[in-house]
Amino acid sequence: MEYVVETTNLTKVFGNFTAVDKLNIKIKPGEIYGFLGPNGAGKTTAIRMLCGVLEPTDGSGKILGYDLVQETEKIKSRIGYMSQKFSLYDDLSVLENLNFYASVYGLPRVKREARIRELVAMAGLTGREKEPVGNLSGGWKQRLALGCAIIARPSLVFLDEPTSGVSPTGRRVFFNIIQGLARQGTTIMVTTHFMDEAERCHKIAFISAGKLIAVDTPDNLKRNALEGFLVELELPSAMDKIKDIESLPYVKECSIHGPLLHVLLKEERNLYDLQRTLGVKPRPIIPSLEDVFISFVKGSKEGEKNA
Ligand SMILES: Nc1ncnc2c1ncn2[C@@H]1O[C@H](COP(=O)(O)OP(=O)(O)OP(=O)(O)O)[C@@H](O)[C@H]1O
Ligand SMILES: [Mg+2]
Repeated sequence: MEYVVETTNLTKVFGNFTAVDKLNIKIKPGEIYGFLGPNGAGKTTAIRMLCGVLEPTDGSGKILGYDLVQETEKIKSRIGYMSQKFSLYDDLSVLENLNFYASVYGLPRVKREARIRELVAMAGLTGREKEPVGNLSGGWKQRLALGCAIIARPSLVFLDEPTSGVSPTGRRVFFNIIQGLARQGTTIMVTTHFMDEAERCHKIAFISAGKLIAVDTPDNLKRNALEGFLVELELPSAMDKIKDIESLPYVKECSIHGPLLHVLLKEERNLYDLQRTLGVKPRPIIPSLEDVFISFVKGSKEGEKNA
């Protein structure tokens, strides 16, 4: 199978609102596929369709070779899905949660004990098996939720914002686990709002207002996605100057990054125009993923205004 996920014009309409608009995506086996986009972009809606839990309004797709509309039961039993509000039972223990999901996913009884021990270790919960899940803090809960989602060793896993509300260390540990799974051949589609996590994906798809705007590797996106020349500069009360800077004819975009302004110029030579206008020296910089995403979001908003 060349692609584990392949969709053609996948669309979801709620009433007269199009949440996912003609989505075409292809995911290869073993890929960590990052799904990024602003709040309300349609990420969760798209993932729910890919998991076979939400019927598309239009379009089609194959998941692990199964038809997304006709074969949802086959899909559901073969994938792992960790939803945005991951569904652990707080008053059950670590072990009870894992046992529950083992039966949900139909893991044969003889395989349970060893598999559960393995996942308890993966979650860093060895010795805490009897503790109620409600006592666990964010990072542990999240790793346990991942353990529940992959208990039957699915070859394809969907993770919807698995690391929201988790500390930076916890997030890093979690992504190490994800990378380990991918190395063993598991395909992972993961949504995130964190750029350091996006960096660790093999491919990133960016969606805004239901539409796919770009798909590429993090490196290619940084190299190619911004058209223009990016500089940073320091100005007193920078926040108040964004609008003025953006109205300069040779400026495409201006955004704030901590204490600094990032300005996307039309061309390299505009650096001198900017320097003359502002009286400070801008420094050329290599775009970060954050720059790329800010630009995507701005670009798609402009597109909506002009539509
Ligand atoms: N069942 C529903 N009925 C009506 N509108 C819905 C429904 N589910 C989602 N939406 C709308 O569809 C849009 C996309 O929502 P979705 O949850 O897919 O976005 P998201 O990209 O996952 O956002 P976030 O980053 O906040 O999780 C939103 O405007 C949302 O309000
Ligand atoms: Mg969501």
